[in-house]
Amino acid sequence: CHLILVWLLARQRSRDGKLEKKAKGKLQKQICQVVLDHFEKQYTAELRDAWSSVRDVLTSPWCWQHAVLLNRFSQNPGLESSLAEQGYHPAFPAALPYLPAALRCYSRTAPGRFPAQKHQPGRLKDYYLLNAASLLPVLALEVKDGEAVLDLCAAPGGKSVAILQCACPGHFHCNEYDDLRSRWLEQTIESFIPAPLINLITVSKLDGRQIGDLQPEFYDKVLVDAPCSNDRSWLFSADPQQAVLRLMQRKELSSLQFQLLRSAVQALRPGGSLVYSTCTLSRAENSDVINLILNSCRNVMPVDLSGMARGVSQEFTFLSGMQQHELLVLPEKGRAWGPMYVAKLKKVSST
Ligand SMILES: C[S@@+](CC[C@H](N)C(=O)[O-])C[C@H]1O[C@@H](n2cnc3c(N)ncnc32)[C@H](O)[C@@H]1O
Repeated sequence: CHLILVWLLARQRSRDGKLEKKAKGKLQKQICQVVLDHFEKQYTAELRDAWSSVRDVLTSPWCWQHAVLLNRFSQNPGLESSLAEQGYHPAFPAALPYLPAALRCYSRTAPGRFPAQKHQPGRLKDYYLLNAASLLPVLALEVKDGEAVLDLCAAPGGKSVAILQCACPGHFHCNEYDDLRSRWLEQTIESFIPAPLINLITVSKLDGRQIGDLQPEFYDKVLVDAPCSNDRSWLFSADPQQAVLRLMQRKELSSLQFQLLRSAVQALRPGGSLVYSTCTLSRAENSDVINLILNSCRNVMPVDLSGMARGVSQEFTFLSGMQQHELLVLPEKGRAWGPMYVAKLKKVSST
């Protein structure tokens, strides 16, 4: 009832706002107050003292950072020195056991973004710009050469590209349900991956909830980078009406995430493992979904991620008090990565 009232008010404000913007003649990136108020209430309760500094980063886009993931399939000899000239350094310590030798990612504490590369037909891109925390689910997955890997919710393809920087799977299935985003995924793969390797990749447009039934016990590794309330982008929703609708429908996301995870468990062979990730701080979409899977699938066990967390603790701030099989990256000034939730599970038997 309260949200409906807020929605009606937001609709009126949105109409007024649109007229105002038209009058100003330009669109400005502005915080969506209704989303901020909603987060304020929820995250103060869930994160307590940690929320105020996280909120400061999330609401200050000028202090956001971007990491640069190098593409091992392209040759650009001058790239690393020009990154160094601009203050970039390797994002992860070289000795990290989880870190595949071929994965090269650069970051810097100063905000800003290295210039993006335009698509040029017939030429592979040299790097992918990303939030460094997006690499944590990929590192946690520990893909090995020859494995059968499924990226269940893959568009626009950042993590698919990162997986292929780490290892050469025997079979790599990238799935995206949304038609438009699926084309974006295909374009990303074409821009980063050379022809012989592309033959190992299957791109599909299935509802991820069905893949478990279609390909039971087929995969060694499954990544479930789930659709979620994307805290960063929701805070800057241009349309307050749409933002209120999303907040009203937020509860349904947990159910979709649970069904995607259940499908992923089904698609795993016994002994295989999955990583679940989101870019929200919301407990309902993170720990609660994982706890529900652990309580409902007896053949699934949690996998300890504390070693990986210790290895990357220089670069990331984690919420304390989480269980060993999960991490929550909290954005902080100078380490403005995340939000990113990561959990790892292993399927121990068929049933
Ligand atoms: C967080 S994004 C994935 C980002 C991607 N892994 C990356 O790193 O570039 C989640 C994706 O899941 C897709 N999605 C939503 N519902 C889905 C479903 N039922 N099955 C498969 N994908 C779905 C969304 O369209 C969205 O592209």
